[in-house]
Amino acid sequence: MNALRILVVSQKGGVGKSTLSANLSVWFSEMAFKNTVLLDLDPHGSSSSWVNFARQSSVFAEHAVLGDFESRRWLIDCRSRIRKYVAKSEVLVCDLTWTAAMDAELLHEFDLVVVPTSVSSIELSATIKFIESVGWVFTAKTGIPPTLLICPSRVSNEELKSDPFSKRRFSVPFMLLPPIHYDESVRQLFKKKFVFDVDSTASKSYSRCAEAVYNAGTIHQQAASSVVVKFSDRRVLATHNTKLSRYMAEKTSTAGIGNKFSQSNLRRSSITSSRRKEGQRSSNLRGLSRILESVISSK
Ligand SMILES: Nc1ncnc2c1ncn2[C@@H]1O[C@H](COP(=O)(O)OP(=O)(O)OP(=O)(O)O)[C@@H](O)[C@H]1O
Ligand SMILES: [Mg+2]
Repeated sequence: MNALRILVVSQKGGVGKSTLSANLSVWFSEMAFKNTVLLDLDPHGSSSSWVNFARQSSVFAEHAVLGDFESRRWLIDCRSRIRKYVAKSEVLVCDLTWTAAMDAELLHEFDLVVVPTSVSSIELSATIKFIESVGWVFTAKTGIPPTLLICPSRVSNEELKSDPFSKRRFSVPFMLLPPIHYDESVRQLFKKKFVFDVDSTASKSYSRCAEAVYNAGTIHQQAASSVVVKFSDRRVLATHNTKLSRYMAEKTSTAGIGNKFSQSNLRRSSITSSRRKEGQRSSNLRGLSRILESVISSK
């Protein structure tokens, strides 16, 4: 089974992303016995410093500050890190504060996209707006879209009695996670202990939430394993995969040069061919290098 890739994200600050990311990664490591990596993509670095400075755990936490969110470089750098850790772990948890300039294509790197949100009317509206802005990812016809999990966060006892979700219209399918209770003691635990280390209402709600994430991950991966992604679609999803892009570049330039010609074969054969053939082949070669150049420069 491939690594479970979880993104904890929202556009709203202070909703509990980092608290959830840090504790979720420790839960996966200690309760589900998974080799877990926490990739903290948030400039504040709260979740990684929580994991690195609290009591020892076997979670590997990295804080990666990748600026210039607007550039394609950001997407490529994030993807490289994610893929590096996915190859080495069983669970990857990413903590990210979203900005409108970011490329929503990044969400395709994940199995689960967890969006913590407060349930107050104003914050829920902002969350719905954010989800709609990246909504195409969850309904994409290409590849396997991630599963969206909405997590009611920092919910007060009073709010627990209300039902704000059934009154709202969501244009994107999602699963609702068990709510995380508001508990003042959570604040005191930062960089000292994890919420599961103390017996409290919060720790029970974090455990329930983590179990639900685990189950959603299993369901997602089972469903994904039965889907066959077309080769052409895989290329769309992995545009910076050099080997694949090169292969596709060669494949798409086969009209003039024949299927099995590598660049070196072309060079060799162009020396021994007649002048006319030589001219034709070198123009094909120029075409091929143009395609390769464009593939390389798009990275
Ligand atoms: N369940 C909870 N109960 C009470 N306080 C909480 C809870 N979860 C988080 N907090 C507190 O809320 C504040 C914001 O939490 P956190 O830093 O996890 O949010 P964030 O979404 O990562 O914020 P940012 O967008 O700034 O990165 C912190 O002070 C944290 O201690
Ligand atoms: Mg944070």
